[in-house]
Amino acid sequence: MNKMTVRDIDVAGKRVLVRVDFNVPVDQTGAITDDSRIRASLPTIKYLLDRKASVILMSHFGRPKGKVVNEMRLAPVGKRLAEILGKPVKIVDDCIGPSVESAAKSLKPGEILLLENLRFHAEEEAGDANFAKALASLGEVYVNDAFGTSHRPHASISGIANYLPAVAGFLLEKEINTLGNLIENPAHPFTSIFGGAKVSDKVAVLNNIMKKVDCLLIGGGMAATFLKAKGVNVGTSVVEDETVATAAALIKDADTRKIKLFLPVDVVVADDITAASQASTIPIETILPNKKIADIGPRTVDIFSKELKSSKTVFWNGPMGVHEVPQFANGTRALATVISKLKATTVMGGGSTAEVIDAMGLTDKVTFVSTGGGASLEFLGGDALPGVTALMDKK
Ligand code: 3PG
Ligand code: MG
Repeated sequence: MNKMTVRDIDVAGKRVLVRVDFNVPVDQTGAITDDSRIRASLPTIKYLLDRKASVILMSHFGRPKGKVVNEMRLAPVGKRLAEILGKPVKIVDDCIGPSVESAAKSLKPGEILLLENLRFHAEEEAGDANFAKALASLGEVYVNDAFGTSHRPHASISGIANYLPAVAGFLLEKEINTLGNLIENPAHPFTSIFGGAKVSDKVAVLNNIMKKVDCLLIGGGMAATFLKAKGVNVGTSVVEDETVATAAALIKDADTRKIKLFLPVDVVVADDITAASQASTIPIETILPNKKIADIGPRTVDIFSKELKSSKTVFWNGPMGVHEVPQFANGTRALATVISKLKATTVMGGGSTAEVIDAMGLTDKVTFVSTGGGASLEFLGGDALPGVTALMDKK
């Protein structure tokens, strides 16, 4: 990465404003179900504390759309961070304004303050300059460690860098280096697996990764669009009609580039997708008009697994089925298990892929789990991330 990091700037005794992505998944009761994003920020936080900086953390949480939403307060996240660090984390009930300023100014070296959800102010997502300036006034140095949000041109992501010396944290650096290496210098054979619901989210990344991979495996909801492009009847599966032509073009491009592209040969279908749904496994040629695809079938798992086992590099983004519902989780779980046993560089996209890997306890069995869903896709799609562009260049 050609950007300056916390290593390249004097932080000792300074008030350091750190943008983190503490947008962690929670259950219906608001309990944190995966704290990986909090843990991933620890190297930067500890580095700053060791240098007696006062650390001011800022994050968004959910999509409150410019209003205060009590369920989206960051207090539970601050509590979890304090438990993990074994150190108090002060909190305030806003992210700008006089009381926040005095809390920031009175922070002692080695202390931590977590600001309230940035998105309680509409100015955050609007990238408002005055809001960015108000945030910037709280610190002396700005660190971006929020890889998962670095594709958003928001005030706390790219705006603040106009007002403070701006450098990358260790997580941001690691993400950019790992994903950059994946796309620039992969060991071959390189296999990429894509799943999840929408093709439209993945067109750019598929087009870009197509230039690097030897093999593409496509499952999940998006497989229906590819199957339809090949003339398969996919019943009531959700198909983005406007992307069927895109899928057809991607299939043709893979063929021209001599890339092996595999779609499901069998699938698990149901009338609807609920915990009570009756699941049946069938070849793709026999999907009835009233059935929906909900997972890949066992023959597909075998074919995909065989390709994975001969790969030296694997990138995975998106579940193979509706993995939240047990009877439709087998394909996703089976491939996660296969990937965890490979002697290969295995990089997992963020979002739901990261949640599956965490829930199965496989995080330590893969090379890297990205903390960014959308951000990793945009980066691998070849886009410059606003949160990275804004940082100071390495001298
Ligand atoms: C995420 O979880 O995708 C990031 O935290 C960014 O959140 P957003 O998609 O709501 O911008
Ligand atoms: Mg997102």
